[in-house]
Amino acid sequence: MEKPYTEQEKLKRGKLFASPPTEAASFWQDALDFGTGKIKKNITAFKKKFPAPASTSNVYTLIDNTDWTSSFWTGMLALAWEGTADRAFLKAAEAYLPGFRARLDKRIAVETHDLGFLYTLSCVSLWKLTGNQEARDAALKAADLLMVRYHEKAGVIQAWGNLNDTKQQGRIIIDCAMNLPLLYWAAEETGNPYYREAALRHIENANRYIIRSNWSTYHTYYFDTKTGKPLRGSTAQGYSDDSCWSRGQAWGIYGNALSYRYNRDPLFLENARGLARYFLNRLPDDLVAYWDLVFVKGPEERDSSAAAIAACGLLELSAALPYADPDRRLFENAALHITASLAQSYTTAAIPRSNGILIHGVYNKPGHIGVDECTNFGDYFYMEALVRIVRGWKPYW
Ligand code: GLY
Repeated sequence: MEKPYTEQEKLKRGKLFASPPTEAASFWQDALDFGTGKIKKNITAFKKKFPAPASTSNVYTLIDNTDWTSSFWTGMLALAWEGTADRAFLKAAEAYLPGFRARLDKRIAVETHDLGFLYTLSCVSLWKLTGNQEARDAALKAADLLMVRYHEKAGVIQAWGNLNDTKQQGRIIIDCAMNLPLLYWAAEETGNPYYREAALRHIENANRYIIRSNWSTYHTYYFDTKTGKPLRGSTAQGYSDDSCWSRGQAWGIYGNALSYRYNRDPLFLENARGLARYFLNRLPDDLVAYWDLVFVKGPEERDSSAAAIAACGLLELSAALPYADPDRRLFENAALHITASLAQSYTTAAIPRSNGILIHGVYNKPGHIGVDECTNFGDYFYMEALVRIVRGWKPYW
């Protein structure tokens, strides 16, 4: 059954979002400078390593390039270089390139759809910013590896694990919407339409089955890879199979807005709009979501990363909407209010020993990993939101 795409949930905070927050330009610049200062300090401290996905007591331990989150650090370096023209940031980002290439060549922890996150924010970024050919080659190689995960019959990209692993076979997750820009980009770079066709079939299937009729989302969904049959939704990092994991919803907003950027199909905007309204309608007063949208009040933990990702997604979405669309202004203002709240109450400004930027993130609550901690993806998307707000931004995505 086709989803009734036109039935959108009504936006409840319309009055608040009718106006932007009252913060002066210096507020945003100070917030950006604070993050950039942290990144600069971390260049020396991190050396050739990467921050773990989540901190421990608000301090990241350092790890090798083996997790799905390595590129959030290089992405932050690229953002900081763009903003400051300080070559120390660019040099640091470029120094990681051979390691990203080696990860592909040696097949180090690459059985994941997160090749999109990994190579968009480490390699596509540098290619777009500096024309670095090595970065382009590595990103295209990553796109090829990502394509291996595409199950032709079901038309989906498997998220996790070996393709023959019966527990993970044919399982997709909403996060993958952010991995598709690597394929759209590869199609444009090479002229080979197959990357785009696979990405489009995946997002269309994800939207059809992962988005529920009330615009909440499953975190994950299984397909039978032999028959292509859609099987069932389930969660991995959310509260329950039928709840709505906050970060997943945020990935869905941003991912659909990015699929629109590459394909100009208005259906992606309608999906992003529905997901955005559901997300915005379940925020507490300070507009920073609890880790699952089933919770609208405490004592559950917030997930500042979901807030930062949603802010970026809302900015991408609002800029894509026609000028006459009333949601254009509402979504932009919502993004500004959310980011202002993060800047006011969710940074490590009062925790100088922290090497993170945003506090109160949740990596994996059911798995008891990184609960009420800094997350390196939260840091990255907070910086991206600030860069978008302060000086506008051409996405690496
Ligand atoms: N993509 C995994 C996560 O958001 O935790």
